Amino acid sequence: MPKKIRLGILGGGGDSLIGVLHRVASHINDNYQIVGAVFNPDYEHNLDFAREIDVPTDRIYKDFDTLVAEEMKLPKDQRIQVCAILTPNFLHFPMAKKLLDNGFHVICEKPMTTTYEEARILQEAHKKAGTVFAVTHTYTGYPMVRQMREMIKAGALGKIHKVDARYYQGWINPIIHDKEKRSSVWRLDPKKAGISSCMGDIGVHAFNLIEYTTGLQVKSLLCDFNYLYADNQMDVDGTVLIRMGDHIKGVIRGSQVATGEENGLAISIYGEKAGFRWEQENPNFLYKLSDTEPVQIYKPGHAYNSALSLDGTKLPPGHPEGIFDSMANIYLGVARAIRGAQYNDGEFPTMTDGVRGLNFIEATVASHKGGNVWVSLD
Ligand SMILES: NC(=O)c1ccc[n+]([C@@H]2O[C@H](COP(=O)([O-])OP(=O)(O)OC[C@H]3O[C@@H](n4cnc5c(N)ncnc54)[C@H](O)[C@@H]3O)[C@@H](O)[C@H]2O)c1
Repeated sequence: MPKKIRLGILGGGGDSLIGVLHRVASHINDNYQIVGAVFNPDYEHNLDFAREIDVPTDRIYKDFDTLVAEEMKLPKDQRIQVCAILTPNFLHFPMAKKLLDNGFHVICEKPMTTTYEEARILQEAHKKAGTVFAVTHTYTGYPMVRQMREMIKAGALGKIHKVDARYYQGWINPIIHDKEKRSSVWRLDPKKAGISSCMGDIGVHAFNLIEYTTGLQVKSLLCDFNYLYADNQMDVDGTVLIRMGDHIKGVIRGSQVATGEENGLAISIYGEKAGFRWEQENPNFLYKLSDTEPVQIYKPGHAYNSALSLDGTKLPPGHPEGIFDSMANIYLGVARAIRGAQYNDGEFPTMTDGVRGLNFIEATVASHKGGNVWVSLD
C-alpha cells in the first residue's frame, strides 16, 4: 500500500468558501494527508484553525515564503509533495511559480492566474519543473460530465453544431446595489480578482466545460458585459457568442446577478445525430436528446457508462454522489499522476486548461471594451 501523499494547503481557512471542499475531497479516496499549511494570512487564526481540524501545528507557517523555505530544508521524503492553492486569485501566480521553481506538484484553483501573460510564464515554469499541475475546474470530475466527454469522443452526437453553456448565480445581487459593499468584496477588486468578475470567476468554468466535453476549442468570441453601476470596474453579467469552427457556434451566458439563482451551471450540446443536456444542480442525470427516439437518461455507476465515468463513482447506482466526490475525482487523478501510475487525460484539468482559461477571460474583456467586437483566441 503506497504511503499517503503529503499535501500542503495555501488559503482555504475556516473563513473561506472553498477550503472545506478541498480538504474533504483530498481525504475521500484516502490518498492524501495534510501535513503543512498557511490557511490564513493571520498567524494566530492559522494556528487556531489547524488545531480545530487537528492538523499538527509544527508545520503551520506564518506565511507562504516561510512554508517554502522551511519545507525545502526537510529531507525529500518528509517534505510536502503537492500544494493546493486556494487563496484569492492574485496570489495564485506568485505562489504557483515559486512552488514549481522549487519542484513541488501544484493543485491550483481557477482562474489559474490573473493575466494571460502570467499564465504563459507559469506554463514555461511548469515545462522546466516537470511536476504535476492541476487546475480545479471542479465540474469536470462529475461522472456524467465525463460520460458526455467519452460519448462525444466516440461519436454519439455526430458532427457538433451548437453549444450553449450557462452559469447563473445571484449571490452578488445584495452586494452590488450597496456602494460600500461593492467596493469591499475581493471578487470585485481588480487588484485581487483580475480583470473580470463574472467571466473570471464562473464564465471560465462554463468555457472549460465546453472544451472538456466537446474536445473542441473556442476559436473566437464576441462579448457583451453588464457592470450594473458606473463605479463598478468588474463585469457581473455577460453574454458571449462563440465560434468553434465554421459551422460550430454557441453561447456562454454568465451572471452573478441572476436573482435567486444558486449555482446554475448547465450545458447543452447539439450534434447532427443527438444532443446532450446536463445541469450541475442535478448532476446525476444526463439527458440524451434525439429527433427519432424518446429522451434517454444516463445515470452514474451503471455498467453502460464509460470507464472514465465509472472510475468517478464509488457506490452502486442510486447513491447520489455530488460536488465533494467530483472534486475528489480530480484529487484521485492527481494522486495517480504524482505516483507515476496510469491515468486518463480526462481525470483532471491541466496547465493547458488554465492557460486556455486566461486566454478566454482576456478575450472577453478585450471584446467588450473594444465595442463588442470579435476577438480570436490563440
Ligand atoms: N473550483 C470552484 O468551483 C471554486 C469555487 C469557489 C472558489 N474558487 C476559487 O477558490 C479561490 C478562493 O475562493 P474562496 O471563495 O474560497 O475565497 P474566500 O475569500 O472565501 O477564502 C480565501 C481564503 O484564503 C485565505 N488567504 C487570503 N490571503 C492569504 C495569504 N496571503 N496566505 C494564505 N491564505 C490567504 C483567507 O484567509 C481565506 O481563508 C479563488 O481563486 C476562487 O476563484 C473555486
